[in-house]
Amino acid sequence: MKFLSAGLLALSWVSAARAACSSNLLIDNYSNYANNLNSLGQWTSDDGTTIGLKADTVNKKITFTSQASSYFYTTFACEKATTDGYNALTFPIKGPAGASFTIELQTSSSCSTTAYTSYYTTLTGVTGSTQTYTVLLSSFAGANLNAIQSILFESFSVNGAWEIGQTQLVCAAGGSSVGSTKTSSTSTTSVATTSKVSTTLSTSTKSASSTSKSSTVVGTSSTSKSSTSSKTSSTTSGVKVVTSTTSSSTTAGTCTPLLVDDFASQSRLTFLFYNAMLQPSSDDGTMKAVANRVDTSTSVIVANNHVTLTPANSASYWYTMFGCLKATNVYSGVGMTISAPAGTKMTIELQTEADCGTSNPVLIDLQSTDLGWTFDGTERYYQIPFSKYAGLDTDHLISVLFSGISKPVTFGPIAFYCGTGSAYPVPSTAAVIEPSSTIPATTGPSAIVIDTFGNSASNNLGFWHGGDDTTTYSISNKKLTINMKGNSDLSWYTQISDSCVDFTINDNSYIHIAYTGSNAFTVALQQNNPTCDSNLNPSPYTWDSVEASRYSNTAKTDLYIPLTHFNINRTLSIGFALKGFYTTTSTVISLIEIVKTPPTGFLVPSKLPTAPLIFACTRPNSFAFAIDDGDPALAQQVVSTVKAAGIHVTFFTVGAALLDTSTNLTNVYKGMLAAGHQVAYHSYTHPPMEGLPSLAAIDWELNNDINAVQSTLGISSQYFRPPFGTEGARIRQRLAALVPGAKFVEWSVDVQDWLWALSSTPQNQVTNFQSDVDKGGNLVVMHYLYQTTVDYLPQFISIAKATGKQLMRVDQCLEDPNAPPL
Ligand SMILES: *[C@@H]1O[C@H](CO)[C@@H](O)[C@H](O)[C@H]1NC(C)=O
Ligand SMILES: *[C@@H]1O[C@H](CO)[C@@H](O)[C@H](O)[C@H]1NC(C)=O
Ligand SMILES: *[C@@H]1O[C@H](CO)[C@@H](O)[C@H](O)[C@H]1NC(C)=O
Repeated sequence: MKFLSAGLLALSWVSAARAACSSNLLIDNYSNYANNLNSLGQWTSDDGTTIGLKADTVNKKITFTSQASSYFYTTFACEKATTDGYNALTFPIKGPAGASFTIELQTSSSCSTTAYTSYYTTLTGVTGSTQTYTVLLSSFAGANLNAIQSILFESFSVNGAWEIGQTQLVCAAGGSSVGSTKTSSTSTTSVATTSKVSTTLSTSTKSASSTSKSSTVVGTSSTSKSSTSSKTSSTTSGVKVVTSTTSSSTTAGTCTPLLVDDFASQSRLTFLFYNAMLQPSSDDGTMKAVANRVDTSTSVIVANNHVTLTPANSASYWYTMFGCLKATNVYSGVGMTISAPAGTKMTIELQTEADCGTSNPVLIDLQSTDLGWTFDGTERYYQIPFSKYAGLDTDHLISVLFSGISKPVTFGPIAFYCGTGSAYPVPSTAAVIEPSSTIPATTGPSAIVIDTFGNSASNNLGFWHGGDDTTTYSISNKKLTINMKGNSDLSWYTQISDSCVDFTINDNSYIHIAYTGSNAFTVALQQNNPTCDSNLNPSPYTWDSVEASRYSNTAKTDLYIPLTHFNINRTLSIGFALKGFYTTTSTVISLIEIVKTPPTGFLVPSKLPTAPLIFACTRPNSFAFAIDDGDPALAQQVVSTVKAAGIHVTFFTVGAALLDTSTNLTNVYKGMLAAGHQVAYHSYTHPPMEGLPSLAAIDWELNNDINAVQSTLGISSQYFRPPFGTEGARIRQRLAALVPGAKFVEWSVDVQDWLWALSSTPQNQVTNFQSDVDKGGNLVVMHYLYQTTVDYLPQFISIAKATGKQLMRVDQCLEDPNAPPL
């Protein structure tokens, strides 16, 4: 590439006698960019095509938006890097996630000529966060490192916002340096360096029956770990708890394998970006999405304790971090099972960093062939022995990174192994056995046909039927076909009233649903609010849910559910909902009716208790703020806002983030508890829980959250808020079974932060809040995830106070006898 050559001629630098370096050479901190001069007093510029190029002298970086073929360059007065002892170039950079860029090194045959030749190294793996690349000068094969004229940043693969921080030449001898950058002779040019991926909100934009749903996230945005402690994992009653110890105290002879990840949760890996050590783990965002999934953007597929990666190209990578683990004299390597097609190849990079930071890791790459790995499509155990990585600093293991993956691969549990090692066992989750007791069939008074699907807009009673998402169901040939593609948040409804109907007249009768296909869903009967006014919040007021599969005949053609199993006030019934589908298999329904009795021989299952579904405070004139986890960086502002308002609120917290000490959430919530606020459960890794494949997976989420809250805050709770508000029979039954007396808390006032906080009209959060309050809503959902939402919190509180209602915690507003007095 040629560039504007004015700079090359600008200044000359008379060098004195040279000695080998003792510290890094600062090329530029941009303090003199206004004059187009770098820190060496040499010319620097872009090519004139970047947009908005600015030097940020305080943060020592340059920021710009690249366009096609933009480049940025900095020049030398002919640097003799070999003579001076510099062996690498290092710089922090931030660019669009998944992007790559190229470093061009221009060198001359000698310093007495200005004619130059260009050499290139392309760097992939840009994560979207600031990361430091260290590029060995030897990777510019053929370049004369004793006559470097200039360095260019170019070929930005994504046109977008880029930042380049302080550039330095790395002194091979080390010593104190501007940015404490070191490389070692064993490091190789990286395909990518890992950095903590900051967790971001995946906003959900779905709507549901009466309440719109929002999603929560736990932001874990700190960029590095600096603990020199080793992490060990212990097992307490089947639930993993990660603990930190202050030294790697494991002594010879007591080594047990250390789990890195058992791929127990899709959300942990793709929403929170954590492995089982609660260290960052992620792909580069370029793995290919897999068809027929609810979340078509999900490309890191976790199922049955395995992860499947389908790389888009050879630059795609996936990494999992170790938190600066000390493995010396303890672990011999990292092992894992892999299934991959014959001929699959990949690069396995181990990263270490002497100071336990993550900004300048030493990277050593080996090819799968170097490790003797061959594949044949079956799942086998493979090892990454530390002894094969020459010069590896096993005192400070930061990360393992897989790149150049030539074909789709599936990894099983990854663990540090001792001695010669063997595969880490796939964790066995105890199957949840539900009671199978039955009750006598009853004979009810009445029979009514509700729906035979003759009309697309209404049922046989003349009331509305339809679903949340018209693409997930169809009515034709007198049949309803539903396939929610595993999205457990969507419902289909058939009404028995526009306001309220007293359905107790059918007590002792059964709802009969004739179906084929899957019965992996929930049947619910909805109850309206006491005024039967669907314009008031909440409407529906509540509902109760049962598992279709428990009420099916063995031929899987008919469901019979006693109406008394819907534990609501049936004098205020509105209609039935089919919801909580946790499968991608279709269900086809031909009839919904009320019958007096099930067929002879049908075994009516006993009712399983469900945690009550709550949308509203019950105490007269009460109002409750219930706030879900968000960005730890905004927690302090929430703390001071609620303190200034003199109110008590409820916080629902995600267990995995609570256990991650870098979030500081444990301290935040300890402070909240001490100040009289309520802290309650919000799952361990924030999946849509009704959508989980098994009851064991639901229990894992609940038990881990319960244990995390107990171990960090020393408390337990009877209150649970479902991630995304997702509800169904299975999660409510498991919650009731594991937490006797538990309450399943939804909301009737939604600020819709997920929809408006980052929009051009963030004030719509206030408008929504006001409108829901005007309709009688008194139980809030919001997250401290966005600055605008947190900034509006005082306004939300004023609006709530203006109703004349008293603001309090959720347990207080539900008249819980165990709640503290007001
Ligand atoms: C930037 O580098 C120049 C030249 O080495 C130095 O004088 C200046 O103090 C540095 N500025 C900052 C903000 O570090
Ligand atoms: C059910 O609702 C009706 C109508 O509002 C009310 O009179 C009755 O007390 C309620 N029953 C229960 C058990 O709450
Ligand atoms: C952690 O949270 C506590 C309690 O809110 C607060 O006092 C402290 O300043 C926080 N620490 C950091 C590093 O933010």
